[in-house]
Amino acid sequence: MKVIVCESYEEMSARAAEIFAEQIKEKSDSVLGLATGSTPIGMYDRLVDKYNDGALDFSGVTTFNLDEYYPIKKSDRQSYHSFMNEHFLGKVNVDRERTHIPNGEASDPTSECAEYEEKINAAGGIDLQILGVGQNGHIGFNEPKDGLDAGMHITELSESTLEANSRFFSADEKMPTMALTMGMENIMKAKKILLLASGKSKQEALRNLLSRVVTTDCPVSFLQLHPNVTLIADREAMPNI
Ligand code: GLP
Repeated sequence: MKVIVCESYEEMSARAAEIFAEQIKEKSDSVLGLATGSTPIGMYDRLVDKYNDGALDFSGVTTFNLDEYYPIKKSDRQSYHSFMNEHFLGKVNVDRERTHIPNGEASDPTSECAEYEEKINAAGGIDLQILGVGQNGHIGFNEPKDGLDAGMHITELSESTLEANSRFFSADEKMPTMALTMGMENIMKAKKILLLASGKSKQEALRNLLSRVVTTDCPVSFLQLHPNVTLIADREAMPNI
């Protein structure tokens, strides 16, 4: 695993945007795995800037988001559909026919998951997967458990995640307690992975990631088994090992 330590969130975001941009310049029809959360917002901002400067063309790419709350309306302020529209997909020249986000409105979530996974495979798999990490070490919404699901699935959110993400919901808005998420195999099959981490609350998860122990108690630790992972972390997120 390549580890890049940055002095600030801004530097982390700029380095991540460079790697993302390189991927598209090298392969204009890249299949990109996208993440939500506060961590990648700075990277998306910089990608939008590059697009506005005429330095990047997203017209050939295909995107697959990692996850979505369930149940949730696409139009809800806190849905990952709204997030992606606001921060990235709605601001660049992606072909919206080729952007995919799990459907939190699906009446049959199991079929939705099977169809979503099918679409990833039909697109030839993911070239570059962007990941953030939860405070408890989750990636996507693969929460710490005795056993992790390999494929796309519906999952209960852990207490830790419900608490961490409750900041996005106001008191009168009910936070969904479940999510649709890519599973560990879907993530691990990506050709390259770019993991971003910022802030002290991510230290414990990174300690596990850098420990040389792989455990389902900390799903991000599985990235040690992937041949092409780059971790970009700001200094605050880096544990003293
Ligand atoms: C969310 C998302 C993850 C994200 C993580 C960290 O629950 N499902 O994909 O990486 O939590 O979020 P943040 O970047 O806001 O800390």
